[in-house]
Parts: sequence; C-alpha cells; structure tokens
Amino acid sequence: MYEQISHSKLNDILIELAPDIKEKNLQHFYIRLGSNFYAIYTLFQQLYGERKDFDIQLSSLVKTLIQSYITRSKALRKLDLTREKDHDWFLSQKWVGYALYCKEFSGNLKTLQKKLHYMQDLGINMLHVMPILDCPKGKSDGGYAVRDFKKINAEVGNLKDLDSLIKNLKSRDILLTLDVVVNHTSNTHEWATKARSGDLKYQNYYHIYDDRKMPDLYEETMPEIFPETSPGNFTWDEEMQKWVMTVFNDFQWDLNYKNPEVLIEMIDIILFWANRGADIIRLDAVAFLWKKIGSTSQNEREAHLILQLMKDCCQVSAPGVLFIAEAIVAPVEVIKYFGEDAINAKECEIAYNATLMALLWDAVATKKANLLNLGIKNIPAKLERATWLNYARCHDDIGLGFDDNDIRMAGYDPKSHRNFLVKYFTGEHEGSPARGVAFGINKKNGDARIAGSMASLSGLGVALDSGDKVALEASIKTIDLLHSVIMAFGGIPLIYYGDALGVLNDQSYLLDDDKKSDSRWVHRPYMNWNKAELRNVQGTVENRIFKSLKKMIAVRKEVSAFADHNNRELLQVNNPHLFVFSRFDVRNQYSRVLVICNFDTNAQQLDVSDLRKRGFFQYDSITDIYSAEVINITDNHINIPPISFYWLST
Ligand code: GLC
Repeated sequence: MYEQISHSKLNDILIELAPDIKEKNLQHFYIRLGSNFYAIYTLFQQLYGERKDFDIQLSSLVKTLIQSYITRSKALRKLDLTREKDHDWFLSQKWVGYALYCKEFSGNLKTLQKKLHYMQDLGINMLHVMPILDCPKGKSDGGYAVRDFKKINAEVGNLKDLDSLIKNLKSRDILLTLDVVVNHTSNTHEWATKARSGDLKYQNYYHIYDDRKMPDLYEETMPEIFPETSPGNFTWDEEMQKWVMTVFNDFQWDLNYKNPEVLIEMIDIILFWANRGADIIRLDAVAFLWKKIGSTSQNEREAHLILQLMKDCCQVSAPGVLFIAEAIVAPVEVIKYFGEDAINAKECEIAYNATLMALLWDAVATKKANLLNLGIKNIPAKLERATWLNYARCHDDIGLGFDDNDIRMAGYDPKSHRNFLVKYFTGEHEGSPARGVAFGINKKNGDARIAGSMASLSGLGVALDSGDKVALEASIKTIDLLHSVIMAFGGIPLIYYGDALGVLNDQSYLLDDDKKSDSRWVHRPYMNWNKAELRNVQGTVENRIFKSLKKMIAVRKEVSAFADHNNRELLQVNNPHLFVFSRFDVRNQYSRVLVICNFDTNAQQLDVSDLRKRGFFQYDSITDIYSAEVINITDNHINIPPISFYWLST
C-alpha cells in the first residue's frame, strides 16, 4: 500500500544510509521493503510511536534489514525467490519433522551428521535441532537460557560445524529448524551482566525493579510456569539489589519489548540464523512477549504486533524462511499466532498443535475419543497459508489445558478428570500400564502436568518388565496409533527422537544436580545407538515400531489428501471409542482417505450406514492404504481391532 508519511520516512532513511550501501544488487530487497514498509512502520508506530527517539529507532531497524540482506548468500537469495513462487510449499504432505537434543542424540554437531542416514531411512526431511546456542554449563533449561545468541554451545561444536551440517542437510533435501529464544536470556548473557553492573541501557533490556511494588502488582494475575522449581515471576538479584522478572526459571531473565532496541536486536538475531541457512526458525515462548499489569501477561495484543513485525522484517530480508510459534495455549488463542488474516500467515506460518497432543493422551487413558472429538471441534480452522505441527510427544511436558466445558460435556468433572489423568500416567491409577512422572505440581491450585517418554506412557516399560505379551502388544499398538494420527491429521508431523524405537524413560537425570529437579529430563534420553541397531532385527520391539512408522511416513508422502489445505472433516459416529475423520484432496476427487482410530482395548464396531449416505463405503469391501488389508463390510458394520487405526481409501 502506498502511504505518504511512511514513504517519506523511508526515503529519508534510505538517503541517510546511501553512503553505506555499496552493493548494487538490491532490487529484490527494495521491492520487498517497499511493499512491507507501510506495515512495518504502522506496527512500529503502534508499539513505539510515543517515544521521542522513534525516528532513530525506525532507521536503526531499516539498517538492520539492509545489512542482513547484504550478507545473505546468493544461494539463499535464490531459494527465497523459488519459495516465493511456490508460496505454500510447506503445506505439502511430503514434509515430516524430527526433533532432537544434539548432545543427547549424537554427542555433537559433527557426529550428528553421521546419524542423518538414520533419519533419512525413516523418511524425515525436516530436522529441528533443539537449542545449540551458547549457554552456561549447569542449569540452562536444556539450552533455552541463552548466553550468546550468535555463538554455538562449545559442548556441541562451533559455527563451522553448523555450516557443515547445513551443507550436508541441503544435499539431502532436509530442512533445518533452529530455535531463537525470543522471550528471555540467561542471567549470564552480556546484556544481563551489564545490567547487573549498573548499566542503565541494559537494565532497560529487562523488567527490573528496585522494590516489590511493581512485582507485587504483576504477581496478582500472573500464573506460575514452574511452580516447583521457580515459584513466582520475579527473582531478587543480590549484586544489583533489584528484582528481575523471571517468568520461567530464576536464571532466565525476561526481555523487555517495550524497549524497541530489544526488538531490533532480536530481529537481527533471527536474520543472522536465517542467513546461516536455517529454513525455519522456532520462536520460543511467544505467548509471553508482552507483560501487562492486571493480566496473565500471556497472549497480549502487543505480543502479536511484535510477531507481525518480526515476520514483516523477515519477509523483507529472508522471505524464504518460515516461523514456528511455540505457544502452548488454548485453541482460540493459539490460532491467533498465525496472525489474524483471511489467508496468509501474518505472524508464524507454523504452530505447535498442543491441543491435539494433549487430547490424544486423554483418549489413550480413557480409551475413549469423546473429549478428543469435542476438543478438535473447537480448534478453529487455520488460515490457508499456515499449518500445524502435529506431535504426540516433544521435549516438554503434557499440560492438561483442556476446556472445562468440553470436559463436562464429555461426561467428566474437570478437577477429578485431570486428577485421574495425572494418576493414570504416573501409574498410580489401578491397572494403568503408564510410567510417567508428574511435572510442575502446583501445591496452591492442585495443578500438575505429565512427563515421560511416549513408550513409557504407552505402557511399554511395564509390559517388558512383566513379560506380559498382551500388554506388550497393547503398548506397541498405542505407539502406532498415536503416530498414525499425527501423520494423517493435517499439518507437519513431528517425531520426537527415541519414539521411533520405543525408547523408555531415562532416569539418569536424577543423578545430575542440574537436572534432577526438572522431571522433563526423564524423556530427554541419551540415545543408545547399539540398541537402535535392533530396528534392523526382525521381530524386536524396535523393529516393529520403526518399521510401522517408516511405512506410515512413506504412505503419507504418496497421498495428496494428506497435504494441509483445510481439507479435513471430523465425522461424528455413535461409538465413543472411535475417532473418525476424512481427508480429501480438493484438486483430485479420487484422493480421499477415511481415518478411523479405535482407542479401546477391545475391538469396536462402526455402523457405516450414515457414512454411506455421505458417499463413503459404496462397496462391500474397502482397502486400508496403510496395511493393504481389505476390510469387509457386513450388515453395514466394519470391525476395528483393539487399539488400531485404518486409513481407508474411499
Ligand atoms: C519453551 C521450551 C521449554 C522451555 C521454555 C522456557 O516452552 O519448549 O523447554 O523450558 O520455553 O524457555
């Protein structure tokens, strides 16, 4: 859009910067800057328009964008142009993600390259290497407490090692996702050190207070994120003799985005990693970016403005790069992290589907899909050019943030149902085969979350210990069932390392003083590569899980109906154990898949009469595209075996 004021400002800035810009080949940059500048200017003004130094800050932002573009390699600029043409490339069903901790998975970045064949064998083509930036030894929240945003953690390597990994990934057509922890820094970051030594410029990078007046006001409405290990949202700093806002751990200082310098620094950091070759940037804890007294300080409007600005700026300097929003919040809120637009993601193109994840575990525990069905109905339709990251497990806990009304409608009391789930997954509930660990117990309100590996939560550990064959079958089938949903649901499936092999909880964290108080480490295992070899030995647990998942991935990639174009229909059936939805390809009427999942430990019958009226089941038999099995329809019913799924070609 052409708008006089913003354009004259931009002209002034560019004239002022002209002597510094030696490079000639900037036409693409100027086109993108021109078309995005009105949005950038407006957003920047909404956030910082009151400041006396507004013009100076705006000019500094534009300078950052130019400098970042100038250092962007030719190859990446070419990739930008290709992706702009094929703008919804990431909605394709061909993408399958994998998340890992480098140190625990392979040791370091060099040795990670030696394991790429393992991922490729599975069919992975999108790799999320969790935080590898410089962080202090000891407590660092798994790298989410960053000390230097432009340096690699020496424990896993250096920038050269990352460059070499990126080159290797590119030659295999595997995308790379890197984290930028936008909400906070380590308390040992240079900015924090300077703030501590009394430097006011850097004190203004954080939320720092002389006394309890402001902290107490904030505390009235801010929930606690880590109530056990880091109660409250502020930490007293001895050296500074001041209070610092620390929403997560006491060593993670929250950044103050009311200061535009913080935003500009962060945009510079995002573009730094984009220029290094990251295809996707995972923006950590985005719901927390803006703090406001009298609110929970989550999902604030300004947090969205900040993300829009980050996206617009990235669009100018590195348009081929996507953002993932890590916002583990209610469905009505999470959808806003795509940006409130009719079609295009204005903030992040990809968002974690934590709702689906938690609902899947509810179905596993209850053996019923009634809450799952209700919860999925409440996920608003996503934008056209945006997609979900569907996962069953990740490095974080399972929060039970279901809607209380949905829980009631599913026939449970919210408090006792959540209580049941925690007891079920920690193995306290009679007959439960799960072996998880409670996480984040809040003694004040009774809340708790769940930690544990997919295999341990699915009962594999208990089954192996007891030698009970039926229990073993059930646990393997549970793992397959969970994977089948994230593969078919619509979005990018994200496999968590270890889950393709049924890796159990790793208790070694209890021996480490820096980890033992954070039970999430129970599901951040050190990979046992000797054991991983068992995936090639017919009939082993590793082999069974790996083989099924590998096949699911291969089939997914071939079925265009599994691409994500808002092409899913949830189908209500009159059997509470079943979760049924269809996937279709709007451009190819022959590609339609009916997904049926049975969460019960008994076989279930599905009455297909209603589905027949809707065009499904037109013949007496139907083929499962995953197993190639032909399923017969008898008296308008099909039989779905215990804990299993069908991908029926209709
Ligand atoms: C994100 C990360 C989590 C971390 C938190 C604080 O939620 O996924 O592991 O503890 O941010 O950085």
